[in-house]
Amino acid sequence: MSDETYVGAIDQGTTGTRFMVFDHDGKVVASAYEKHEQIYPEPGWVEHDATEIWDKTKRVIDEALSDAQLDADQLEAIGITNQRETTVIWDRESGQPIHNAIVWQDRRTTDRVEQLEADGKTDEVRQKTGLEPDAYFSATKAEWLLDNSDPIKLQRSRPEDVRERAKQGDLAFGTIDTWLIYKLTGNHITDVTNASRTMLFNIHDMEWDNDLLEEFDVPGAVLPEVRPSSDDEYYGTTDASGFLGAEIPVAGALGDQQAALFGQTCYDPGDAKNTYGTGSFMLMNTGEEAVTSEHGLLTTVGFQRSGEPVQYALEGAIFITGAAIQWLEDMTLIESAAESEELARSVDSTDGVYFVPAFTGLGAPHWDQRARGTIVGMTRGTRREHLVRATLESIAFQTRDVAEAMESDSGIELSSLRVDGGAVKNNFLCQLQSNILGTDIVRPEVDETTALGSAYAAGLAVGYWETLDELRDNWQVDREFKPKDPQNVEQRYGRWKDAVERSLDWARD
Ligand code: G3P
Repeated sequence: MSDETYVGAIDQGTTGTRFMVFDHDGKVVASAYEKHEQIYPEPGWVEHDATEIWDKTKRVIDEALSDAQLDADQLEAIGITNQRETTVIWDRESGQPIHNAIVWQDRRTTDRVEQLEADGKTDEVRQKTGLEPDAYFSATKAEWLLDNSDPIKLQRSRPEDVRERAKQGDLAFGTIDTWLIYKLTGNHITDVTNASRTMLFNIHDMEWDNDLLEEFDVPGAVLPEVRPSSDDEYYGTTDASGFLGAEIPVAGALGDQQAALFGQTCYDPGDAKNTYGTGSFMLMNTGEEAVTSEHGLLTTVGFQRSGEPVQYALEGAIFITGAAIQWLEDMTLIESAAESEELARSVDSTDGVYFVPAFTGLGAPHWDQRARGTIVGMTRGTRREHLVRATLESIAFQTRDVAEAMESDSGIELSSLRVDGGAVKNNFLCQLQSNILGTDIVRPEVDETTALGSAYAAGLAVGYWETLDELRDNWQVDREFKPKDPQNVEQRYGRWKDAVERSLDWARD
């Protein structure tokens, strides 16, 4: 065992949790991953067990450290990055959640959001939070949890006790960063990027918004303190008598998409990245200006370092991309995600098939909560290879939809796009993306930029890294994909748009 020091990152994603350890060059020296259960109590509902997430977080930390024969004391800091919006409410005294966490993909509060629209509140929400009112964000999930959690779990007999106890400050609300910071340090804190996804936070004043708290009946007493994403004062330290056996500063946190922006070193206005995970999220740094979108994008907090102004971003949030490949696997059309590349290459085209994977409605730039998955153009000759290719094309087309919106909003033409996330290992997809966008696609050497970004945030806070330039120097290109085979791209993109039209508003009663 060497006595070098490192920075650790917990990457708590929608499907699983990873712990990674990075050295000063931003290279991975240890990594462990575990999946957690996806709970679907009703159609359109998605839940996670926050206790399982915490148990698995501890396990992957132990496993990564022991596999690489590292001592916890060698970690100078820990950063956290997380699936955003997913909402947990727990009892401060017992540390137990009062209900399963409601996941960002969950659609149970669709009616509530429509009520908000009917009440003429949409513009106020947009203006204050930068978000397009949608069941995706935490506000209506928190409201639902306070209205519907089982009071028995709170050892009380009357339902109204849940909200009453929330008002008295017995309960704590948080996104997954907050839950993990609480479990690691005992402190109830979130960072500015995660706060900006709750639909309860004013991104201009950088404060919880009293009108929105009132609208969703979320008592101020349940809210975490909001701190910079890279915090010189640390959120807290781990407990030397706890599972790690060491006192390590927890000093950085960012929602996973903002973490990828940070890890891709997109520190200047105009820098953009696209991450291909369960969904895909394209973010462009807009500097100190919170740019309002005219084309269905979100305005969100990009990151903030202690003592420095907030940096904003424009975001194109696509709900289902990698999850569509996962669905092919669930349907036993492919054996593994890796097989999708080979099958898609084995045919020249989709043979006229278009697949809009709107399983949880459509996000940017359409924002239709009632859109549903649609496959059009099938014939008797359609084979699974065509469907697999159409799935990969759907990822690239959805990205073009948000890229066009971003160019229109920012006035900046994307000449190249940095990509990361699990699916970018697929060379076919990267080339397809370049062809469909007509833009260079640049894949970095470390494609786990989400974890890297949160390690950078934590490492900067404790002085492991001093400047952003050091981080820029760490960023290395693995491969660049240049647009080719432009044949039919525009015509196919037109057909894609027709297919999207058919998926819209499908789930209305
Ligand atoms: O907004 C949802 C996003 O943060 C989820 O990301 O990578 O867990 O699919 P991922």
